[in-house]
Amino acid sequence: MDFPFYRPRRLRRSEDLRRLIRETRVSIDDLIMPYFVVHGKEVKEEIHSMPGNFRFSVDELVKEIKEVKQLGIPAILLFGIPNKKDEKAREAYAKDGIIQQAISAIKDSVPDIIVITDVCLCGYMSHGHCGIVENGEILNDPTLELLAKTALSHVEAGADMVAPSDMMDGRVRAIRRVLDENGFSHIPIMAYSAKYASSFYGPFREAVFSTPAFGDRSSYQMDPANSDEGLREVRQDISEGADIVMVKPALAYLDVIYRVKKEFSYPVAAYNVSGEYSMIKAADKMGWIDGKKVTLEILTSIKRAGADMILTYFAKQVAKWLR
Ligand code: PBG
Repeated sequence: MDFPFYRPRRLRRSEDLRRLIRETRVSIDDLIMPYFVVHGKEVKEEIHSMPGNFRFSVDELVKEIKEVKQLGIPAILLFGIPNKKDEKAREAYAKDGIIQQAISAIKDSVPDIIVITDVCLCGYMSHGHCGIVENGEILNDPTLELLAKTALSHVEAGADMVAPSDMMDGRVRAIRRVLDENGFSHIPIMAYSAKYASSFYGPFREAVFSTPAFGDRSSYQMDPANSDEGLREVRQDISEGADIVMVKPALAYLDVIYRVKKEFSYPVAAYNVSGEYSMIKAADKMGWIDGKKVTLEILTSIKRAGADMILTYFAKQVAKWLR
């Protein structure tokens, strides 16, 4: 492979040559678009820290999902924003909760888009933590029951897949069990497996008002310094019944995505999170980078690292670009 016999530039001479040897492609097939849903009617409120993303009321969300379906995006991820928060996250599993209403409305009008729901309690808890709190401690085992109940209520409302994001130990097993017992053994679980305690979630917490009232999430989300531990989390989630495993965030954790794919050969999802989105938007607005090109480069790198699918706030935009 020595110069002058091997000249790598030979195959870079034209765009058609480059197309022929291109190894990685981002396609609409890979994209999952997250949405935030609120109570009310005719609400479409832009999220300050995430320009181009909105809090939708159910009626507006249904219109949006129709459009996204037409663009060919296979799946959406739903986050609910309740009116009332309490210490038991009651709205998370209420029959007429915001997310439950949204799921059934979407299923009524756009039945064939995959509806994935984020299963977590932080947005529904008055203290903003992902579990039950007692004396300043986030309790693990008592939280599992609420998570399982929440997942079941989503599926009963029509969700096609559930995605637990809380990082309590044993939640995948608890959710798998309750789904199976209730006749939903066909519903897959996408587990947020290697989920890091990341500052890249800042804009999201502003979007759903879930910033913890005290402390932070480091006693349940992972230390950004650890990747062996990420593999152990993934192994455990697979053994508990996860069908798809997720690494989150994506961009600063490409090595983790790579290792997870190599080690387990399981479907891997990567979450290109809110902070990753907002950074690009801000720099693009300043005229410092070309937002479109940077976005496509980053999504390509996430796939190159080993992700099979990408949850990204750019999904709708990217689907338009790729068409
Ligand atoms: C809920 C949850 C969070 C995100 C997804 N599910 C926030 C958090 O853990 O604090 C972050 C998504 C993003 O930043 O885009 N636990």
